Amino acid sequence: ETLMTLAEKMPKTELHLHIEGTFEPEQMFALAERNQIPLKYSTVEDLKAAYQFTNLQDFLDLYYQGMSVLLKEADFYDLTMAYLTKVHQENVVHVEIFFDPQGHLSRGVDFEPQISGIYKALKEAEEQWGMTSKLIMSFLRHLSEDSAFETLELAKPYLDWIDGVGLDSSEIGHPPEKFARVFKACQELGLKVTAHAGEEGPADYVWQAIDLIQVDRIDHGNRALEDEQLVKQIKARNLTLTVCPLSNLKLCVVDDLTDHPIKHMLKLGLNATVNSDDPAYFGGYMVDNYHALIKESDLSKAELHQLAKNSIVGSWMSADTKQRHL
Ligand code: ADE
Ligand code: ZN
Repeated sequence: ETLMTLAEKMPKTELHLHIEGTFEPEQMFALAERNQIPLKYSTVEDLKAAYQFTNLQDFLDLYYQGMSVLLKEADFYDLTMAYLTKVHQENVVHVEIFFDPQGHLSRGVDFEPQISGIYKALKEAEEQWGMTSKLIMSFLRHLSEDSAFETLELAKPYLDWIDGVGLDSSEIGHPPEKFARVFKACQELGLKVTAHAGEEGPADYVWQAIDLIQVDRIDHGNRALEDEQLVKQIKARNLTLTVCPLSNLKLCVVDDLTDHPIKHMLKLGLNATVNSDDPAYFGGYMVDNYHALIKESDLSKAELHQLAKNSIVGSWMSADTKQRHL
């Protein structure tokens, strides 16, 4: 069996996935038509041609434009179901997905249709395929602390459906400390906590995520490798890193995949995992990310097994459920 086949067949989880980042151009045009919302691009080809990014912000500008055609519960359901159908075929057995409520609230879309659409698709995937899931509400860090607190208020009637909270969007200039009080309130409500840190931002932002936010996980974490003490701390706390190889490549966080930080993370004994982040924008879902690593970075069979195992261990499934998958 080749490593490429193994990557497809092995049971794995996805822990870093923005549902709005799964919006394929074809589906985006279909929903734009259905909702009678004009897009800036006249064809799927024009839109795809715009997917050339030099940094995170370049991508985010298009990502927020793209989500502007999501209005109704059915839109959120269709988007989520399309993603789940794809990764089910890739032997993803469990997903933990982010949604960005503020990206929709700011356009006049209420919290209820967003979360109901997403949640219904997640439950259906569980009934149909036994694929389990967690839902993570992510705060947009370029917005204010007040806006995050307002969003948390809107989420309170739905806490049964929300497992954790995250922090995403433009990293530099918006350090974790800006949201320390919001995350404390979330933890008091029993929510798990993760944050994007060290994607473009410095190692200090990863320290802040750990010390000031007490994260249960770190999204990306690439630049943590610049600080030896930080690496020790991540190990000591057994924090999982949700790494996104093709995302890093497309956003110029790395120059190529030959010497990708995930290899170093594994060698250092860190609990690193492979994830797709925003697959519709970055050219690949879960298996594509594994395949790119196998092709470009000379991943071994042992490393491949380790990555799949890490994805189970690093998830927020119950200990029992993890055992079933290991
Ligand atoms: N929102 C969606 N994808 C993101 C990423 N990779 N980093 C920060 N914010 C995001
Ligand atoms: Zn992300």
